[in-house]
Amino acid sequence: MIIHPTGQFDNHARDYERIEVRPLAAAMGAEILGVRLSEVDDATFAEIREALFRHKMIYFRGQQVGHAGQQAFARRFGPFAEDAYTQGVPGYPDVQPLIREADARAGMVFGAGWHTDSPFLPEPPAISMLYAVEVPPYGGDTIWANTALAYATLSDTMRALLAPLRVHMSMRRVLATAQAHQAPDDTPIGRVAATRDLRELPPEIARKVLGAMHPLVRTHPVSGEKALYCDETYAVGIEGLTPAEAEPILGFLAAHITQPAFTCRLRWEAGTFALWDNRICVHQAFNDYDGFRRELYRSTIAGEAPA
Ligand code: SIN
Repeated sequence: MIIHPTGQFDNHARDYERIEVRPLAAAMGAEILGVRLSEVDDATFAEIREALFRHKMIYFRGQQVGHAGQQAFARRFGPFAEDAYTQGVPGYPDVQPLIREADARAGMVFGAGWHTDSPFLPEPPAISMLYAVEVPPYGGDTIWANTALAYATLSDTMRALLAPLRVHMSMRRVLATAQAHQAPDDTPIGRVAATRDLRELPPEIARKVLGAMHPLVRTHPVSGEKALYCDETYAVGIEGLTPAEAEPILGFLAAHITQPAFTCRLRWEAGTFALWDNRICVHQAFNDYDGFRRELYRSTIAGEAPA
């Protein structure tokens, strides 16, 4: 099960004219240097976008963007996505605060558990981004795993077996975790946490629990790469299979995708701006920074129905 570097690992930087790219890990991820996000011209933006699709996750250090700057930069990738959990800051509906106070002791943090963003929607977000304003001195990292590399390292027989399958993506496990660990409040997830009877779920939550069926192997609309579309948080079944049949397949895939060799991990600094492509990687946040404040701002870009 553990894969060691073979010909499949290729995260080298291409030559660019406007940006410098420094790969983060063998599997994926890259730092982009030589860019101020507040003043990106079209030629530079084209290189950033290309680097995002190549490295799956990219990040910039030392940025000062503010809400207006974040919204403007994010919008260059396309229209904003529906966000399942968070609400925007006043005046900037597409810049959502992810703030955990130093004295917070909730059993869950936003984004804990390996996941791709909002796959229970018919058209899940393509790209997500986070801008860090205040971070713990240590802890609070984010980790990503490359689902195209995971697909490429499967046997031909396994790939043929998965090719026709559709995965059921649902919010139902997050709902159960929220109800167990999250204090009810006036956020979307806090309102869910307050609901005990599934029949009383607000309609916008009920449709996300019902979820969507998507191809288990999807093709990236720009790069053409095939990737596994599966995670441990939202993938709850496979169309046409009983739970007993689907669970071992989903369990194997979740473990295969997230093995250390396929990952990269980012240590945040104030001023770090990171973006990733949900169509081709999964990620998770860590709940390991009790006693420290963490303040990030998130934006998500609309995607297409996975195909
Ligand atoms: C997320 O899942 O988008 C949150 C990641 C993080 O806060 O590190």
